Amino acid sequence: MQEIFDKANSVLEEIKSSAPVNAEEMEQFRIKFLGTKSVLKDLFGAMAQLPVERKKEYGQLMNTLKAAAETKFEELKAGFDTGKSSAKEIPDLTAPGYDIPLGTRHPLSIVKNKIIDIFSRIGFVVAEGPEIEDDWHNFTALNTPQDHPARDMQDTFFLTEDKNYMLRTHTSSVQIRKMESEKPPLRYIFPGRVYRNETISARAHCTFHQVEGLYIDDNVSFADLKQTMLYFAQEMFGRNTEIRFRPSFFPFTEPSAEMDISCFICNQKGCAVCKHSGWVEIGGCGMVDPAVLENCKLDPKKYSGFAFGMGIERITMLKYQINDLRLFFENDIRFLKQFTSAV
Ligand code: DAH
Repeated sequence: MQEIFDKANSVLEEIKSSAPVNAEEMEQFRIKFLGTKSVLKDLFGAMAQLPVERKKEYGQLMNTLKAAAETKFEELKAGFDTGKSSAKEIPDLTAPGYDIPLGTRHPLSIVKNKIIDIFSRIGFVVAEGPEIEDDWHNFTALNTPQDHPARDMQDTFFLTEDKNYMLRTHTSSVQIRKMESEKPPLRYIFPGRVYRNETISARAHCTFHQVEGLYIDDNVSFADLKQTMLYFAQEMFGRNTEIRFRPSFFPFTEPSAEMDISCFICNQKGCAVCKHSGWVEIGGCGMVDPAVLENCKLDPKKYSGFAFGMGIERITMLKYQINDLRLFFENDIRFLKQFTSAV
């Protein structure tokens, strides 16, 4: 008779000390102590063999057992559900690893790197200048007269403390820094961020990016400029791309031109991107004005050179057919993850 009590007490100990560590062991616990064929069922059955005077005591022990099993099960289950189980989960060492999603580069970086790559192949070296510029480098040395509209408060962010300093409005300022500090031959590209006091829209932003090019040596000609631009256009937009120069004006180049490329989207048949003209503009260029060389203490009789400036957003928009400039600055992951470095 005592055996029956001993058996029940040892099951109670087993319930108290058992510590399932995963779902499978939990299920085994449930089957053993709470299922339809549980050990508790057998113990309840054993009650019949006990004399009447001990039945009450045994009944109470059985209730304790049942409650212990149920409480333990509920506690463990709650622990697993909230992940706060004190039980140590044994990891499944055979499970496959988690995927680490690959990031993508920002489309502007992809295009900037491509431009750098193209020009590096013909000997251009990357250099950078400051984004906070002084009047000399951003305007005066670039032959921009005092009354030029670009100096207007409308276009330029001047520093409030000192109006002689501003956020650079173009990367052309870096040309001056290089010509002042190094002797030709100079063959550089200057990628970087520029700022203009513009109302933000699908076509304009107060901050954007340019790549400036500069080549100074003896005997650099307009033909060299055209050939360099043709090489760039074909590497960037495809071997069949043609270029077109339209006469233009910039204070720091003479002669100056706007450069167009043949529309690679419609093959010059006419589309919305080229506004049915067959050509799209990608930047400005020209021969460095002798006055600019003199400002940098380079002898215009000895040296000549060309310069160009292109908008990275503009090229990226053409390349990927993006129609709203603001997308570049919003960092919406749904937009960004569409780009791979395969331009
Ligand atoms: N700095 C000009 C701009 O921001 C672009 C440019 C035009 C740069 C002609 C040049 C150049 O170097 O030769 O609109």
